Amino acid sequence: MFLFWTHITRFDIFNLQEMHKYCILNGEIELTSNASIGLSDLALLRGYGIFDFLPVEKGIPMFLEDYMDRFIKSSKRMKIPMPFSKDKIQSFIQSLIKLNKIEYGNVRLVLTGGYSENGFTPSGTPNFFIMTSNIVTYPPTFYENGVKLITINYKRDYPEIKSLNYVKVLLERDHLESSKALDVLFVHNDIISESSRSNFFIVTDDDKIITPKTYVLEGVTRKNVIKLAKINYELEIRDISSQEAFEAKEAFITSSTKGIMPVTKIDNQTIGTGMPGNTTKKLTALLSTFKTDYILSC
Ligand SMILES: Cc1ncc(COP(=O)(O)O)c(C=O)c1O
Repeated sequence: MFLFWTHITRFDIFNLQEMHKYCILNGEIELTSNASIGLSDLALLRGYGIFDFLPVEKGIPMFLEDYMDRFIKSSKRMKIPMPFSKDKIQSFIQSLIKLNKIEYGNVRLVLTGGYSENGFTPSGTPNFFIMTSNIVTYPPTFYENGVKLITINYKRDYPEIKSLNYVKVLLERDHLESSKALDVLFVHNDIISESSRSNFFIVTDDDKIITPKTYVLEGVTRKNVIKLAKINYELEIRDISSQEAFEAKEAFITSSTKGIMPVTKIDNQTIGTGMPGNTTKKLTALLSTFKTDYILSC
């Protein structure tokens, strides 16, 4: 149901390669099809690396400052030195968007632990690359009817770091398929943190908006939604128990690729009326205007 890539034809693959022909590896423009890093990189040997992922709309890297700040924060927390300045990376991103003629798509930044002679100790020279990719779309029914999440007992290691480790959700692929769920909802000691690639929000009966405080990646969409919610509603950033989520009037997840996506089922529990609620719809409209204003301001 969610394997959108299964319908890609040989023609599409050719187009994708053409569209994302170039990447930037360690500061040099390279053909994406030729670019490579060596086998002794610690990202491959030990899963030691970070990344970030930002949308491009109308040729503009959206909320670039926020993504750059998070990427730099991740590199510091992960103790992987950033090989280029923030300004330099921003200019690489702008160049790659122009070079690959991206109107709508995504930019992925990856910083690895770099090579290691003994397979454990970093040499001190990380690998850094930037790639572009196609826009990610979801069926309109996901927004019209809402999606289902399934709870699993887990909290991410170093949740404030956008690390390369997404093993937990990858192991849940069959479980998600058989449950007809879009994604997981991480719960630890009965406290909800986030979904595998999205942040989580609930709306209470008295229209208060709540989002978890601990064990979360500080999503850029979460930050924007918090800003908009604070202006228009009462907002709390605090722990949410699974019972509170089951009893919520509305729930939704947020991410750079999904925007605001209504959640109408968690496990076998219907949330609210079972359809996207008015607060989720209003916030979706506010976020859309916020993004348009951002584009106009650039
Ligand atoms: C673990 C996790 N939480 C939350 C998010 C949402 O963050 P953003 O809104 O910046 O896409 C992501 C994004 O991929 C993520 O990986």
